[in-house]
Amino acid sequence: MSLRIQTLKTEYAENPVGLDVPNPRLGWTMVSPHRGKKQSAYRIIVSSTREQLDRHEGDLWDSGIVRSDVSHHVEYAGKPLQSGQICHWKVRVWDEQGAPSEWSEAAYWGMGLLSPREEWAAEWLDMPRDLAAEPELLRPAYLRRTFRLRSGIRRALVFATALGDYALFLNGQRVNDLFAPGWTDYAKRLQYQTIDVTDFLNEGENAFGIILGAGWYAGTVGMSGTRWYGSRPAASLQLVLDCADGTRELVCTDDKWKASAGPLVYSDHIMGECYDATREFSGWTEPGFDDSDWSAPDILPRYTGELVAQIDPPVNIMMTLKPRSVTRTDRGTFIFDMGQNMVGWTELKVKGPAGAKVTLSHAEMLKPDGTLYIENLRDAVQQDHYILRGDPEGERYEPHFTFHGFRYVELIGYPGEADLDTITGKVVHSATPRTGYFECSHDLINRLYSNITWGQRGNFLSVPTDCPQRDERLGWTGDAQIFIRTASYNMDVARFFTKYMDDVTDAQLETGAFPDVAPDGGWIWFKTTKKAERWLAPDNAGWGDAGIIIPWTMYLVYGDKRILERKYPAMVRFMDYLHAGAVDYIRPDYGDYGDWLSINSVTPNEVVATAYFAYDAQLMSRIADVLGYTEDAARYRELFLSIRDAFNRTFVDEEGRIKGNSQTVYILALRFNLLTGERKEQAVRHLTGDIIAHDNHLTTGFLGVGHLLPVLSDHGHDELAYTLLKQETFPSWLYPITQGATTIWERWDSWTEHKGFGPARTNSMNHYALGSVGEWMYRYMAGIDASVEQPGYKHLRIAPRIGGGMDNVRAEYETLYGQVCSGWQIKDGCCTVDVTIPVNATAEIVLPASGRENITVAAGAEAIRQIAADGERTVIHAGSGDYRFIFPYSVNP
Ligand code: BGC
Repeated sequence: MSLRIQTLKTEYAENPVGLDVPNPRLGWTMVSPHRGKKQSAYRIIVSSTREQLDRHEGDLWDSGIVRSDVSHHVEYAGKPLQSGQICHWKVRVWDEQGAPSEWSEAAYWGMGLLSPREEWAAEWLDMPRDLAAEPELLRPAYLRRTFRLRSGIRRALVFATALGDYALFLNGQRVNDLFAPGWTDYAKRLQYQTIDVTDFLNEGENAFGIILGAGWYAGTVGMSGTRWYGSRPAASLQLVLDCADGTRELVCTDDKWKASAGPLVYSDHIMGECYDATREFSGWTEPGFDDSDWSAPDILPRYTGELVAQIDPPVNIMMTLKPRSVTRTDRGTFIFDMGQNMVGWTELKVKGPAGAKVTLSHAEMLKPDGTLYIENLRDAVQQDHYILRGDPEGERYEPHFTFHGFRYVELIGYPGEADLDTITGKVVHSATPRTGYFECSHDLINRLYSNITWGQRGNFLSVPTDCPQRDERLGWTGDAQIFIRTASYNMDVARFFTKYMDDVTDAQLETGAFPDVAPDGGWIWFKTTKKAERWLAPDNAGWGDAGIIIPWTMYLVYGDKRILERKYPAMVRFMDYLHAGAVDYIRPDYGDYGDWLSINSVTPNEVVATAYFAYDAQLMSRIADVLGYTEDAARYRELFLSIRDAFNRTFVDEEGRIKGNSQTVYILALRFNLLTGERKEQAVRHLTGDIIAHDNHLTTGFLGVGHLLPVLSDHGHDELAYTLLKQETFPSWLYPITQGATTIWERWDSWTEHKGFGPARTNSMNHYALGSVGEWMYRYMAGIDASVEQPGYKHLRIAPRIGGGMDNVRAEYETLYGQVCSGWQIKDGCCTVDVTIPVNATAEIVLPASGRENITVAAGAEAIRQIAADGERTVIHAGSGDYRFIFPYSVNP
């Protein structure tokens, strides 16, 4: 039996529409019941119709048989494609023995607009409004238009976007995703969405409806009030109708539309929503609605920035949660516990008189007196108000353009007795598909793992934000770089970070500095200092460096070379900027974050900054190598060596003590290869000594935390790493869990028994940065790792760290090639290790057992290519398939 082709992806997505890359990249996964399977050749056919594809006619492209084991990122190399074109494709492969597979199932991709500036015919609409009279939280606009459709429509594509958030309806049905068009620096770039609406249209009368909210464009962003990018939202859409007779018709936003205010009084990401159902007009998104009292829309100036197809996955409701309990308070309100700190909103079911107002108030914690803890929200208002229309059948409400971070919901003004059915939690985030699962024999660590994934759900909404609840919710680059590897295990974040890297490079300063937050907001009014300041610091070490670390990680985990190519010039500018600012290779740190929110320790900023500078230079030399820029590679290697010398000269003393003597200085120096020979050993001793001196506690902040356990493991201290992970007393990862945490907290001391709540201004209960320990759980506990030589998990390294008092550990991870599993179990003096390697990948499996005679290969022996024992470890080279190894293992008492 040969290979079977399973999933076909174009630009990381199954059957995407609206791509604007001229040569999309194709990839496929394969399965086989046999072990050691590889691809030796492929043939791709791309056709302009499904019929031609079925006849194997690649009128757009027929790659011919290509001898290659490449099964991802194969660039389309056929005829130039047109805007809106649908391309049908399939692939066939040959295995390592030359046996062909069947053709795959058919897949397709659809192009977006290739010259959007010329092709965008639609106007930009808002309802008429007098901005001077408009309240700070803008009133959302309602826009509609009917149009007649003749018969013989073959295909109907909508290209739509807005400055602001928009909800698009066609004939009564919502047809777009949430929080579209997503957040970008609107001064520079705006994403449009491509939606195939062929099945939503009727012959005869049809109707479009749009609700247009302020969104990130004109609503509250960060901690600095509203209207960062502009003061008037605008929606723009064009429907392209391809008729069977070969003609094309357009329906656009134009002066034939009608506009009105409606039941939405305001709806703001950070300030909540007010919806007055007494002002509802039913049927407004359908034909036949009487809009005679609606007015003509205002036609606004056309968007002049860059219009691009949306690259990242859309935001959706990804899960619903029922509350775990409800209690009536003395005030006559109801407090629900969702049992999980979550992000999104609640849907309300209510029956009552017209005009009655119900408020849903959201918070992450309760105070000791049982009321909502809202102090950490700063100026954000996590309240939705619903004014009933008085339907005797009852009514349902959920908000439109807002989201909240919460575990508790207080229902105020509810007519009647609320029960568990009254509200439903809607979990909302970017639809990054889940790729990883982790489980072990330690319950609190499993909860920690769950909290890490909830931190990701809660903060991956169009951009990776720091927190989802207070008036901040910004794309902090430092948080993103330290968490990206963990994020990439949990979910497929390829498209998400491809888009975010555009945000980062859009926000690059003229000096070359990468920003602390992306997207950028330019000059803004700070309420706190009462002046207009540039939001971005020039660069903070560990933050701006994300501009190099993120693309590199994308290369490592997805084998994505294109992002390196595309971002290389920006990275070079950043390096030039760092180099120019450094004095004798010591990088000054202009910011003041340091090892942000570290505890019981201080790490000097210039040590952090210089360490990151060296790391950047190292990554740049590797990146230049990958791209074939040999001279640059050599230059950056030289630079790295010079920085390393300067680092040692300036910060390291005779005994190998690094300035600051904190855990983080040693962690960064070791992780970024800044020490050699004896100094390395000294640093390891200082680090472990410091941990022990803190009675087995960490002192790291955002930057140190992600590398702490990997560094310990890399230097022979797995057991100490386990001890830290299992530490339950403050400060530790598990301490918050003993206090009931269901997400990762911003601070080690967000809540402690001895002090209660931490400082309210920086006390998010849903911040993923300290959850970057997830990487160690997958990469070391379960031992699933990528290799730089064959990135994207084409060649894997499986090296589980067996021990730590665990009985078992297991992780599953869906790579581009398919599912990887690694699990181990200790029982009756034996350790059993189970490994799965996907087709067309290979692995080096490293087991802590000496001598091959001690290892029983209980499954997969025939596919093992080589076993080599090296001291206390055995290294096994294997191809695809399932393997089981058993070897004696005694647990020390
Ligand atoms: C954010 C962090 C961010 C930091 C920079 C905070 O306000 O919440 O996550 O990285 O500022 O120091």
